[in-house]
Amino acid sequence: MATVLAIETSCDETAVSIVKNREVLSDIVATQIDIHRIYGGVVPEVASRQHLEGVNIAIDQALSQSGLQWSSIDAIAATCAPGLVGALLVGLMAAKTLALVHRKPFLGVHHLEGHIYASYLSDPTLEPPFLCLLVSGGHTSLIAVRECGHYDILGQTRDDAAGEAFDKVARLLKLGYPGGPEIDRLSNVGNPKAFPLPEGRISLPEGGFHPYDASFSGLKTAVLRLTQTLEATGEPLPVADIASSFQFTVAKALTKRAIKCALNEGLKTIAIGGGVAANSGLRSQLQAAASPHGIRVVFPPLKYCTDNAAMIACAAAEHFDLGHRSDLGLGARSRMPVSQVMDLYHSEISRSKLEPNPCPTTTLS
Ligand code: KG4
Ligand code: ZN
Repeated sequence: MATVLAIETSCDETAVSIVKNREVLSDIVATQIDIHRIYGGVVPEVASRQHLEGVNIAIDQALSQSGLQWSSIDAIAATCAPGLVGALLVGLMAAKTLALVHRKPFLGVHHLEGHIYASYLSDPTLEPPFLCLLVSGGHTSLIAVRECGHYDILGQTRDDAAGEAFDKVARLLKLGYPGGPEIDRLSNVGNPKAFPLPEGRISLPEGGFHPYDASFSGLKTAVLRLTQTLEATGEPLPVADIASSFQFTVAKALTKRAIKCALNEGLKTIAIGGGVAANSGLRSQLQAAASPHGIRVVFPPLKYCTDNAAMIACAAAEHFDLGHRSDLGLGARSRMPVSQVMDLYHSEISRSKLEPNPCPTTTLS
């Protein structure tokens, strides 16, 4: 299998990694969280500038940590969608430049496919088909992984992503940023049954509810109303109990849908990915619900749940081995369904593996 250097700059981590055979040879993540914390969320322009300052350093560190020379790298990859366009462009341009200078093939990678591939890093024997519960700051999806590059979105959120709900509720409870880890930490000391909260379901026109789609905006509003009611009593706010009840409800909603989907689709493995996959409540509820059905759950290590470049390199290596290559004219896109991943590639069967892609007439689209 190929050795790939990948760059990930879709949001607020400047990350570079080298992966070979689903084995991580180097993994550099320079997080910008401390900078964005001042603003309570990611400021896109600030993120782009930070990526510009950090990307070359991260590339050098990744190469030296791997102990490899450029000659041992088969291809260069970068996340190209979805994400903050200005931030994506920094990693994308750096990867294209490296590909040209070192005469290596270039591959653009879909960020969510990267999150799916994080599970291969924890279990290199994992093979499709399986179900991926992808829960990040921007996405909440149930994805049937058919084979590399072929994904069916079976369920998604109709409003807030799970991570977004964690961050908004944390802000409401005056906790730090990002909110997920703070709520997770507090949940361990709070009572998850203290406040029953609505799970949020999607009604179907023909009656009944959508089996897999989720909604978190109603839950967020319920936490807001609960907080206002409790604050009106003048008593100290039971922050840990609210956080724990919220986390319990999100984990229950996600677990129920994932198990139902896996059973209906006949999928015996659920892989979990994205920042919220680090959540202890979700991990334990999912494991407890899956075991009685004989469903295996693959949990990536915490460091590969949140954004990193190892998962991007892992996905790119698989595409590379299948002969997939991207054009250097490939642009950055803020939105793109994971079901369209194959639009990023053309087949390189006829060209030499080490031949660079033709230079584009336009550099950005
Ligand atoms: O995948 P990720 O690093 O970035 C995106 O692609 O969005 O996910 C970041 C999200 C944030 O919303 C953060 O609050 C959430 O993941 N998160 C968590 C935990 N750790 C990170 N949410 C719940 N529990 C956690 N332990
Ligand atoms: Zn992500």
